[in-house]
Amino acid sequence: KFNITIAGGGSTFTPGIILMLLDHLEDFPIGTIKLYDNDKERQQTIADACEILLNERAPGVKLQASTDPKTAFENVDFVMAHIRVGKYAMREQDEKIPLKHGVVGQETCGPGGLSYGMRSITGVLEIVDYMEKYSPQAWMLNYSNPAAIVAEATRKLRPNSRILNICDMPIGIEELMATNIGLKSRKEMVVKYYGLNHFGWWTDIRDKSGKDLMPSIIQHVEKFGYSTDTGSDMEQEASWNDTFKKARDVQALDKHTLPNTYLKYYFFPDYVVEHSNKDYTRANEVMAGREKFVFGECQNIIDKGTAEGTELTIDEHASYIVDLARAIAFNTKERMLMIVENKGAISNFEPTAMVEIPCLVGSEGQEPLSVGEIPRFQKSLMEQQVGVEKLTVEAYEEQSYQKLWQALTLSRTVPSASVAKNILDDLIEANKDYWPEL
Ligand code: G6P
Repeated sequence: KFNITIAGGGSTFTPGIILMLLDHLEDFPIGTIKLYDNDKERQQTIADACEILLNERAPGVKLQASTDPKTAFENVDFVMAHIRVGKYAMREQDEKIPLKHGVVGQETCGPGGLSYGMRSITGVLEIVDYMEKYSPQAWMLNYSNPAAIVAEATRKLRPNSRILNICDMPIGIEELMATNIGLKSRKEMVVKYYGLNHFGWWTDIRDKSGKDLMPSIIQHVEKFGYSTDTGSDMEQEASWNDTFKKARDVQALDKHTLPNTYLKYYFFPDYVVEHSNKDYTRANEVMAGREKFVFGECQNIIDKGTAEGTELTIDEHASYIVDLARAIAFNTKERMLMIVENKGAISNFEPTAMVEIPCLVGSEGQEPLSVGEIPRFQKSLMEQQVGVEKLTVEAYEEQSYQKLWQALTLSRTVPSASVAKNILDDLIEANKDYWPEL
């Protein structure tokens, strides 16, 4: 049986992930689930509710919540990290500050991503170091955002750590693709994909018999983007719905590939800004929606003393984390999209860039598959974006205002160096409790 730590135990995603783990106990047996967070109170609500839930549904699995690193990280096999340094209050700043200057306000793309990145690096490195100290054999399965900057930071600053970086967005999009062409699961598809995190393209999608599925997916995307033709399944999530629809325009820029939806922020920043409410962003939506719901449901469970009838549901979408853990534990050599150092996999691209490409995952970690040459359009876009990500990590390491200003200026989402500087000065002020001093 495996022992697992969920770093970011107080996350709104934790109950759904625990339910998902329980659903997979047969193929991934668990002894103890530990929750770790630096916000004791927030984590306690989640932990108390999950404990009741575990006692009822899987009494063999122990739960332990702690804010003490030693307790949380000793004697574990896997650390699933989804931390959010600064929580939703800081996400709100990441989104609203750029918007105030007429620039895309998003938590992983553009200035918001840089801002969040400068906070996350400290938090993720801290966990890597606790793991090194208390469970050096353990693997960190990291999906903390902004994944691109976090991955570059761990590559550069902790090169020998046992960390695997993965993102759920390609998985989410593949689920939509599969549904849209009438497949039961994305797992019926074998994909080729390359790019950076939140910045990539599918080039080939086949079923297990080798039949090319790209034409039918492209046909759907040309009409509806990644939305279903009715759009009805997404009605609650207006912002995501728009993103899935907008994929149609993003795809039009290269008709032979299928894009990651986040490219909308880089190709259509004017559209995005026009369609944003600078006083009510995604952070507000999440705080009023998911956060209220999850903590409300947890409190209900605690008050009633039972999880019977709870509306908390399995986050089946997160089962890729179990696939990843199983791949390592049982050497399954599963093919997964991972964020890895390029090292020649994309032959005409910077060897030290962290790229998102298919890998085979087994007990030794990830083995990137060769991608070969990529076209000029994508290569040029990626070079610019890698520059942004690398400069951000250098700025963090060297505490350099100049480099962070360069990074912001280089971002496709920012129109000029003067706008970059104004945004930067506001971000420094907002992040004074979190960023290294520049
Ligand atoms: C997707 C992305 C994640 C991001 C999340 C935000 O899953 O891949 O990187 O964290 O969306 O979702 P939210 O519902 O919080 O806006």
